[in-house]
Amino acid sequence: MYRYIIRPILFLLSPESIHHLLVGFLKIFFRIPGIPGLTRCVYQKKHHLLEIDFLGMKFSSPVGLAAGFDKNALVYNEFSDFGFSHIEVGTVTPKGQPGNPKPRSFRIPADKGLINRMGFNNEGLDAAIIQLKKKRRTDLIVGGNIGKNTLTPNAEAVEDYEKCFVGLYPHVDYFVVNVSCPNITDLHELQDQDGLEAILGRLAIVRAQMSNYIPILLKISPDLNKGQIDASVEIVEKFGIDGIVATNTTVNRDGLKTSPEKVKSIANGGLSGGPITKRSLEMVRYISEKTGGKLPIIGVGGILTVEDALNMLDAGATLIQVYTGFIYNGPGFMQKINKALINQGRSN
Ligand SMILES: Cc1cc2nc3c(=O)[nH]c(=O)nc-3n(C[C@H](O)[C@H](O)[C@H](O)COP(=O)(O)O)c2cc1C
Repeated sequence: MYRYIIRPILFLLSPESIHHLLVGFLKIFFRIPGIPGLTRCVYQKKHHLLEIDFLGMKFSSPVGLAAGFDKNALVYNEFSDFGFSHIEVGTVTPKGQPGNPKPRSFRIPADKGLINRMGFNNEGLDAAIIQLKKKRRTDLIVGGNIGKNTLTPNAEAVEDYEKCFVGLYPHVDYFVVNVSCPNITDLHELQDQDGLEAILGRLAIVRAQMSNYIPILLKISPDLNKGQIDASVEIVEKFGIDGIVATNTTVNRDGLKTSPEKVKSIANGGLSGGPITKRSLEMVRYISEKTGGKLPIIGVGGILTVEDALNMLDAGATLIQVYTGFIYNGPGFMQKINKALINQGRSN
């Protein structure tokens, strides 16, 4: 029904308009008594075979919602009812900012992809904290994806990451450091050795002063070459960072089925979905093999089918996340993946 009736209707509007409508609708709809429970009955799949320990946390299944969907932590409870075990909120920056001019999000259905140049539009740290104080659904794990404000020069980026880290520390279960978004000018430079060491080194020091331990993961770009991946893994290990999220969106446009004219008219942005399935999988496999399976990995990027999800787990990811696959497949997608995992008798 989603594919043939709901999706064509939703796709009549721009991706961003639909996103806002959906978030607004869910917030109101879920206030109706019985709706959250009914949604869970229809979409959630609970089974001991799905449960998984990851970085000291117990996840009810490996499937989560990737960063960027619930940037302001508005609907993490509602989305968990659709069968996500974890929701990564953000990217949160210290101050609220509008992001890039609209339009800034585009569908390319021929490739089952999206191109976005949102530019960290979010309401900022204080607004996210207010939202994260809400009572959470049982079992739901919430990650905090953190970044820097667009106007903050890279030389001062560490302070932005630290502010978000300290501010969100009491309110999230794990952190993801986002230095891999292609839509913030020069952000990618923070993926170089000096930038990464400065940010991850500082966060490791700040964490050591906290009374409780919260895992930190680094989110990397699919555009890193082998040498850059190796260097990132080394820095992660050097500073006791707990894992990797692979991958963010790509700036690469090779091999698209979408017409070159359309791709050109969309212009800049990070590409997600089908065109990055292979690359994200390759990167997860490479990192897993390189680290002998010891470095915890969240696999994200181009998971559009149940098979893609299983491949990602087989490649060495312990958890997986979806964004574009959720848009193209609808709310039944997580349940399909979870059912396949149960049918295969997979115990993580
Ligand atoms: C519209 C949009 C906004 C996104 N915003 C963020 C973000 O704020 N922070 C982040 O780390 N990743 C962001 N992402 C990247 C996703 O979290 C994910 O890494 C990427 O889309 C690959 O997964 P997918 O192919 O399942 O979409 C965004 C992706 C999309 C499509």
